[in-house]
Amino acid sequence: MTDTAKPLIIALDYADAGAALALAEKLDPTQCRVKVGKELFTRAGPEVVRELVRRGFEVFLDLKFHDIPNTVAGACRAAADLGVWMMNVHAAGGEAMMRAARAALGEGAERPLLIAVTVLTSFDEPTLHGVGVAGTIADQVSRLAALSEHAGLDGVVCSPLEIAQLRAERCAAFNLVTPGVRPASSGADDQVRVATPGAAIGAGASYLVVGRPVTQVPDPLAALAAINAEIAAARRHG
Ligand code: C5P
Repeated sequence: MTDTAKPLIIALDYADAGAALALAEKLDPTQCRVKVGKELFTRAGPEVVRELVRRGFEVFLDLKFHDIPNTVAGACRAAADLGVWMMNVHAAGGEAMMRAARAALGEGAERPLLIAVTVLTSFDEPTLHGVGVAGTIADQVSRLAALSEHAGLDGVVCSPLEIAQLRAERCAAFNLVTPGVRPASSGADDQVRVATPGAAIGAGASYLVVGRPVTQVPDPLAALAAINAEIAAARRHG
């Protein structure tokens, strides 16, 4: 089910379906997957997901569900019915919630992947302590990734700084999905903890989420090809 031969996931961070589909028009579904997040989904609804699936894209529906187990299970079933390739929940929702979400997706070979968010990268240590969690962010990420694997999930979202640690701690099939990726030739935008595509793959990332370096350039397909070439080179030399 894991297909890391196509590791790039392009974030369609747009406020309307027209803009998202116009960008998708410039992409090639054999070269990348796409991510639909809360803003686009809240404005455009499930129809934009269906349309991307119709166009041959594998869609990561990034809605980060976090609720009681029964409610999250229902939301995951609804996402699966849309035909998405990957979806996510907050690991902080707990083991029972994650198990219910995972069970809702069944065991079919074509089932969507289910991953978890551990600690949001917008958190610093005082923020973590403010919600009642003592200790370091690294410890909390580690603990929630272990809980996610134990609950049967397929992986976690993690920052470039966490890849090596989680790759060492979790099983080989556990997917590490990493945003904050910037080709050497592009700026960091508002991302603070960044890695190049080659470095992220070299450290053990399974999938890379990339937004602006592809969506905000004149030739998105060329940018995509350049990043895929950088990944291929990193794999050859790895
Ligand atoms: O444009 P950029 O490459 O920074 O977009 C990264 C994407 O990954 C955005 O959709 C952003 O919300 C998402 N993301 C992130 N950091 C996280 C989790 C998700 O940048 N920790």
